[in-house]
Amino acid sequence: MTDIDFDAIPRARLPALLRTCPKAELHLHIEGSLEPELIFKLAQRNGVALPYANVEALRAAYAFSDLQSFLDIYYAGASVLRTEQDFFDMAWAYLERAAADQVVHAEIFFDPQTHTERGVPMETVIVGLDHACRRAHAEFGLSAKLILCFLRHLSEEAAFQTLEQALPYRHHFIGVGLDSSERGNPPEKFARVFARCRELGLHVVAHAGEEGPPAYIETALDVLKVERIDHGVRCLEDPALVRRLAASRMPLTVCPLSNVKLCVFPDLSAHNLKALLDAGLCATVNSDDPAYFGGYVNDNYLQTFAALPALTARDAWQLAANSFEASFADDAHKAQWRAQLDAAFAAATPPAS
Ligand code: HPA
Ligand code: ZN
Repeated sequence: MTDIDFDAIPRARLPALLRTCPKAELHLHIEGSLEPELIFKLAQRNGVALPYANVEALRAAYAFSDLQSFLDIYYAGASVLRTEQDFFDMAWAYLERAAADQVVHAEIFFDPQTHTERGVPMETVIVGLDHACRRAHAEFGLSAKLILCFLRHLSEEAAFQTLEQALPYRHHFIGVGLDSSERGNPPEKFARVFARCRELGLHVVAHAGEEGPPAYIETALDVLKVERIDHGVRCLEDPALVRRLAASRMPLTVCPLSNVKLCVFPDLSAHNLKALLDAGLCATVNSDDPAYFGGYVNDNYLQTFAALPALTARDAWQLAANSFEASFADDAHKAQWRAQLDAAFAAATPPAS
């Protein structure tokens, strides 16, 4: 709760406020931050042949009909990553963009199986990413943490092997997630490996209810015992589930531009972000795969607020406050960022006369 007079903040001030207020980003696939220019640069550096003539031709292929049509191009783009320097360069480019968007804390997904299947050692992936995270903290004061995602179209056995390969670098990641093709790959397929991760003290999250049904959100909660749901926008189809999510303040890491690009909603004006907030859900705004979906986190905030006039100044504050509440940061950092957020919004209200 807060005593800010949100009604006194003119809606015209929201774009500037959204751009400049501190925020956390909790749903970002680092491989999805690879811009076409960097894909071509790394392809050249590593002697990798690409099936696209140039940057424009690659960008022109970014017209997706569903999640799978995106994933096919996303995995092809990631094939240029070979060395520790490549992983550093990719993560550093994202972290510079995030710092410019006033992201003070980022929890970053990476997909090791996409790389280890091509013969890239786990160490190369994690050490390169970790180096960029450390530098972002030193240079920008941005705390960046890694979350290892298992690819759900692969087997649970493959996930166990991946976990085993990553454990020597356990101190470099804070949790595990579940991503890739949702339909036909329900959370319960990964029950045992998530149980093992929980035993190891790792945080656990999972994509659910993006393309998959609300039942996948329930099994992510009941079987995987996740602490956050990534996407989760289809929860509104099940009122009992909405009540459960709201009562437990279970965070949803919503990605509006992604949802439109992958045809989960026909356009931003049809997005259910306002309905999620009005239902009392701990919704947050994130960019998912910004290089592919047309925008970084501030683009997601700004375009969604432009498309949904019902979103208010209180909603803007609530979304950023939710991003801190939903993060895996410690309470002292959460309180510090919340105070900065409150100060930014309080400064946008006219002085009392
Ligand atoms: N959904 C599932 N898997 C993914 C996504 C997504 O939006 N982005 C990258 N991997
Ligand atoms: Zn995602």
